[in-house]
Amino acid sequence: MSRERWWRMAPMAAAGVSLLGALAAGLARFGWPVRVLPSLDVLLHGAFMIPGFLGTLIALERAAALGVLPAYLVPWVSAVGALCLLLGAKGAGLLLLVLGSFGLLALYVHIYRIQPALHTVIMGAGAALLAAGNLLAWRGVPLDRPTAWWAGFLVLTIIGERLELSRLVRPPRLSVRILVVACGLVVLGLALTLVPGRPAPEAAVAGTRVAGLGFILQALWGLRQDAARRTARLPGLTRFMALCLLSGYVWLAVAGALWLTGSGPAGGWARDAALHSLFLGFVMSMIFGHAPVILPVVTGLAVPFQPGFYLHLGLLHASLLVRVTGSLLGIPPAARWGGLLNVAAVLLFLALTARAALSTRQAAAS
Ligand code: HEM
Repeated sequence: MSRERWWRMAPMAAAGVSLLGALAAGLARFGWPVRVLPSLDVLLHGAFMIPGFLGTLIALERAAALGVLPAYLVPWVSAVGALCLLLGAKGAGLLLLVLGSFGLLALYVHIYRIQPALHTVIMGAGAALLAAGNLLAWRGVPLDRPTAWWAGFLVLTIIGERLELSRLVRPPRLSVRILVVACGLVVLGLALTLVPGRPAPEAAVAGTRVAGLGFILQALWGLRQDAARRTARLPGLTRFMALCLLSGYVWLAVAGALWLTGSGPAGGWARDAALHSLFLGFVMSMIFGHAPVILPVVTGLAVPFQPGFYLHLGLLHASLLVRVTGSLLGIPPAARWGGLLNVAAVLLFLALTARAALSTRQAAAS
């Protein structure tokens, strides 16, 4: 294995382990009898999932795009932090994740210096939200606070990437302005959750309402402006990606509506629905759609499209519908079974993606 490939594959493997730990912790939180490492703190499910898995993966993607070895230090620091967290070294793990998130911010500053662009500013703002969320978690603030900042990180990163790709079709100025306002509302809403002197939950609910409005605007922007609307008519991977994106935007609008009505991370009876319509419906759907194009860049392995990919996409959305309906209507077994099937959808995605990648290696070897 070449030196650069090793620099990439090790953090990628750590991110994968963090994802598996997060899935096990999520199931345990629903009361499913999963056997987990005794050191695994199931209350850190969100931290395993976002700074641990996705923070490391996004830093790796940026480092690979820069293509210089020192940049790989950032995903490495995050990866070691994620492993420490999984092994029960919570303080050291969160501190390394804080350092990794500031490293990601520094990568965006560097990218902006090379080529100034609005999408880099949006993604950089996302990295700043990750750093703020990680700092709050490291300082021991109850996890509903960092959760809101982590959500902002994921949404701004994905929206920034979609804006970057839409450059080719030159979106109208007004639509770009609307997107900037939407991103600004998310950042403003999160900042409001820090207003001193008010009882924290009240400020947090007010802030998440404003962020929810931002999510709705971003979703409408995506549904109207993203190239996916046109490419959904093309066959193969292009249509698959477009359907992942469009369905993701619909879930982002649902999440925004729930946050707007006060059911964000700060609480409320619909908390699970408000969180996972965003994290699974929007974020995971986007991951499913982008994996066949991003994994080859990061791992060097081609992931050819296979029609079977619609299985994990269909299962994700169907199971999430069951879970969200169960949470909103107060039917715990529906939410619990939906959660179990969500995990099945993610595992199926991993299995079918690995099978597609291995099929090309076998074809090349024969
Ligand atoms: C795949 C199946 C998943 C299951 C079974 C699951 C399960 C859960 C459960 C039961 C909770 C507690 C909800 C509450 O207290 O109301 C929770 C919270 C949370 N989840 Fe998930 N989840 C999953 C996927 C995800 C994903 C993909 C992400 C992020 C990308 C995520 C991030 C979070 C966060 C940030 C929280 C709040 C913090 C916490 O309480 O740990 N989850 N999840």
